[in-house]
Amino acid sequence: MEKESIVETRDLVKVYGDGAQVRALDGVNLSIARGELISVMGPSGSGKSTLLNMIGALDLPSSGQVWVNGQDLGQVRALDSFRARTVGFIFQLHNLIPTLTARENVEVPMMGQIAGRGARRRRAEELLELVGLADRMEHLPSQLSGGQRQRVAIARALANQPALVLADEPTGDLDSQSGGEVLELMQQLNQELGTTFVVVTHDPAVARQTARILNMHDGQIVHEHTVGTPFEEDLAAFRRSGLGKALVAGENPLPRLGPNEQTALQRLLASG
Ligand SMILES: Nc1ncnc2c1ncn2[C@@H]1O[C@H](COP(=O)(O)OP(=O)(O)O)[C@@H](O)[C@H]1O
Ligand SMILES: [Mg+2]
Repeated sequence: MEKESIVETRDLVKVYGDGAQVRALDGVNLSIARGELISVMGPSGSGKSTLLNMIGALDLPSSGQVWVNGQDLGQVRALDSFRARTVGFIFQLHNLIPTLTARENVEVPMMGQIAGRGARRRRAEELLELVGLADRMEHLPSQLSGGQRQRVAIARALANQPALVLADEPTGDLDSQSGGEVLELMQQLNQELGTTFVVVTHDPAVARQTARILNMHDGQIVHEHTVGTPFEEDLAAFRRSGLGKALVAGENPLPRLGPNEQTALQRLLASG
């Protein structure tokens, strides 16, 4: 893998189920550079969460390879401790422990990683200050707003200074203003700490705040947009892709791509 990559996948496939099988990932080749802030879009069921789970070593692929931080995940023996040291997770429903304060929640992932209660406490306090919650440290999750809870979840994800943070629809449960603020915070942390963020979102407004947008469909990355790249260049790259060529030839290589979507993509390819 390339040295500057934090994540690489090669021909990544994930099939769920024994009888009626679902091909949740269907040959994903992806490279994410260190320090990127990248979003993943796509309809429900297109494989976004599955992709994050494979990158975050929460689940194993059916075939193909994943490298994170230079390590082939198929070769890592102690995935739990690798994950604890390398990856931070943020989920749609923050998953904070309701009986613990904000500070205690941030300390949880440090157990077994940072020795000493005092050191853990200081680190949690620093992180909560960093995310703008200096005055909410001893509050319980139920005493915080949705946006504040997601800020705690972000602080918790950063507890062990991960190289990579994976966020699965972190703004999905928030109103658009709080969602925008959470994304701004991730942008700020990405800039200041150099942490790589991969953010799954349904919201185009959120995706537009990231430098690179991957679009998934039926377990494949069907299109990619880099902010600042003229639309024409993007379209040209789509035309050159396997999917683009097949669509221009009148084929539909994606079994679940509906006829309307197929027609829309064919029109797009024929435009300009
Ligand atoms: N644990 C699982 N068991 C069986 N099927 C699953 C499981 N997780 C996801 N799937 C299926 O895999 C496909 C992709 O799901 P997912 O990655 O959750 O999509 P997204 O996050 O884009 O909504 C869907 O068809 C979904 O039903
Ligand atoms: Mg999902």
